[in-house]
Amino acid sequence: MGPSTKSFEIFCGTGGVGKTTLATSRALFLAGRQLRVLLITIDPAKRLKDLLGLKDENIGEVTSVELEGQKLDALLMSPEKTIGRMATSGNTPDLASNRIVQILSKPYGGMNEILSLVEVQMQFESGKYDVIVLDTPPGAHFLDFLEGIGKIRSFFDKSFVEIFAHIGQKSGKAGKRLFGLGLINKVVSAGVKKLLSYLQNVTGAKFIEDFVEAVQIIYQSKDAFLKGLSLQEKLREESQCNWFLVTSVEQGKAQEAVDLKGHASHYIHKDHYLLLNKCLESVVSEWKPMKENLKAVKSSLEDQEQGLKSRLRESFTNILEFPEVVSLSPAEHLHFLTQKWNAYVL
Ligand SMILES: Nc1ncnc2c1ncn2[C@@H]1O[C@H](COP(=O)(O)OP(=O)(O)OP(=O)(O)O)[C@@H](O)[C@H]1O
Ligand SMILES: [Mg+2]
Repeated sequence: MGPSTKSFEIFCGTGGVGKTTLATSRALFLAGRQLRVLLITIDPAKRLKDLLGLKDENIGEVTSVELEGQKLDALLMSPEKTIGRMATSGNTPDLASNRIVQILSKPYGGMNEILSLVEVQMQFESGKYDVIVLDTPPGAHFLDFLEGIGKIRSFFDKSFVEIFAHIGQKSGKAGKRLFGLGLINKVVSAGVKKLLSYLQNVTGAKFIEDFVEAVQIIYQSKDAFLKGLSLQEKLREESQCNWFLVTSVEQGKAQEAVDLKGHASHYIHKDHYLLLNKCLESVVSEWKPMKENLKAVKSSLEDQEQGLKSRLRESFTNILEFPEVVSLSPAEHLHFLTQKWNAYVL
């Protein structure tokens, strides 16, 4: 068997532990195995951009890169660009031009996670890739989002259907613009009505119109959203997705990984991997200090790391170790970590 032929590989973990570097090294490793690889980072932080030598104009666009002699495609997520692609592929130009959709699809506008699933799904459907490697933002937010998908789905299935039953009744007679406030009177509660009339006073009636229009436009693109959400089931499948929880030997980070795993246990399948990054053992073991006090330092470092590893083994079955690369250059970190994947059969 060659390396993983799973369609998805996801890297998650807390801040600064090496998710982006390890996801990139993994993508390069897989590309080196003649797989067609797309590396996507959801995180708007720009480390991957520097690492891959991408420019500002590449943000949000699938870009071919060549690194370490390997070719692969990379995409730094831009929710606005994803909305643009959805609008083109679904032939719903209004989706990209509605003001409220534009606000929601700013990087922190609240649609970031759902749009990243839609994007991954669109890229998967393109059939261009054997594997999509996903670098997620730090912390449990993305996992929380995946767990909450049921709620979003039932919103599309139930609330939208109710709203559109009303729109159907009204728009037949009165046309697109006229039903707005009548619709809102019918379907929203008194509290929301008050809020909307307040908003109408401060923002003008245009806001309400835009709002109703946004709901309608999002509904027109509902199939693309629902397809993106259905990706969640593939990510749960052992046969389709590798999950990599990344942590590093730095103080406190290991406990964060254990917490994150507890948090995500309903979500991540049991066959996931813990990547323990920045291990010092191999470097320290080559160090042969002569002085007694340095010998003590050496053995305390070793004890610390071994203690940490045995604690982690209580919570994780599959632990892959990656060494601390003694260099200041991110390119060298990447180079050595890419080699290191050869040590593991997956
Ligand atoms: N094994 C390693 N040895 C030495 N340096 C490393 C190693 N892994 C990562 N680094 C360095 O650590 C820094 C943080 O790595 P990286 O950006 O990959 O972490 P991250 O988890 O993606 O961070 P963030 O949570 O901010 O997205 C980078 O400068 C990277 O080059
Ligand atoms: Mg990162």
